[in-house]
Amino acid sequence: MFKTIKIKGGMGDSVVMVGESLINLGNHIPVEKTVILTDKNVWAHHGKDFPPCRVIQIEPGEKAKTLDTVRDIYKRLLEFETGRSSFIAGIGGGVVCDIAGFAASTFLRGIRFGFVSSTLLSQVDASVGGKNGVNLDGYKNIVGVFSQPEFVICDLNLLSTLSQRELLNGFAEIIKHAAIYDATLFSFLEENCKKALALEKNTIEKLVYDSMKIKAAVVSRDEKEKGERRKLNFGHTFGHAFEKVKGILHGEAISAGMIIASKLSVKKGLLKGEELERIKRLIKQYGLPVDLPCDRAEVFDAIKKDKKRDDASLHFVLLSGIGSAVINEIPISELEKDI
Ligand SMILES: NC(=O)c1ccc[n+]([C@@H]2O[C@H](COP(=O)([O-])OP(=O)(O)OC[C@H]3O[C@@H](n4cnc5c(N)ncnc54)[C@H](O)[C@@H]3O)[C@@H](O)[C@H]2O)c1
Ligand SMILES: [Zn+2]
Repeated sequence: MFKTIKIKGGMGDSVVMVGESLINLGNHIPVEKTVILTDKNVWAHHGKDFPPCRVIQIEPGEKAKTLDTVRDIYKRLLEFETGRSSFIAGIGGGVVCDIAGFAASTFLRGIRFGFVSSTLLSQVDASVGGKNGVNLDGYKNIVGVFSQPEFVICDLNLLSTLSQRELLNGFAEIIKHAAIYDATLFSFLEENCKKALALEKNTIEKLVYDSMKIKAAVVSRDEKEKGERRKLNFGHTFGHAFEKVKGILHGEAISAGMIIASKLSVKKGLLKGEELERIKRLIKQYGLPVDLPCDRAEVFDAIKKDKKRDDASLHFVLLSGIGSAVINEIPISELEKDI
């Protein structure tokens, strides 16, 4: 049996199924009317378990997240005579889910869609929340829509074919969820690192489920990121900048970003020094970086260009303890002095 989490969205509700299997996807979609979107890696590893639907394969990786890819998908959908009663199922990581959600929400002004999430990062983060979009001219996710998938299947068995680096990438977002919302989950991560990294069934199921629950609750309360949802950006101000400047994976970049935000929290008297040490230790335990040597000016330049910036100040997420986050409006000039 699998566990479910319901998410309330302005444009409809969504259900997350943790522990459901790709092999059962046919039970959740109109098979004859479904077009599957996937990438070539996912197809190579798991295509044999797809239901008998028409399949569009895209190139793997962030490079494919463009309007050109979306245009090619629209053309294939036309060839397949996709209509208003059709369904799009994205099977893949965050890239496939973001593109599938965007294409489905815009083709014919929106048709039904759902996801089978195949990376740890997309299971705990990218597949829930209703943000779908693509990159343009070096700006990440700058063109997109808010719209919730009907369902998200988190098949934990799919994680076994992920590379170690992609797996660790996902743990960074679980650590983030624990750091901002759940001190108990934080302790669980500390105590069960070995089992988690070995993808022991009950351990990984609990981690994905708890993580999804946290994100789902936040998104249900603040779908459009007007307030509380911003807390999910903990570590992301510097994380996005590191990602851009260093060309590393998202989870690696936000790990170092979480340390900077935690250090600033200590400096502002919100977080205890020993809590900062616990956060550092946990991030290291999961094989993620706690600092990234790079050019300061270049990093701040990238922060200034980040689309989430409101004029000259940022909604910066700080910790007021492990498991509890606060948002401070900090001018970039002050940040440059403090860090
Ligand atoms: N919409 C959101 O709220 C949200 C949140 C976070 C991240 N994202 C987006 O998610 C994307 C990153 O997601 P990602 O890390 O899943 O990247 P990804 O989709 O590029 O997947 C990473 C790599 O793993 C491969 N892969 C996927 N599943 C596999 C499997 N089961 N076995 C073997 N290989 C597999 C892919 O082909 C790819 O090469 C970014 O574009 C980011 O912007 C979106
Ligand atoms: Zn993130």
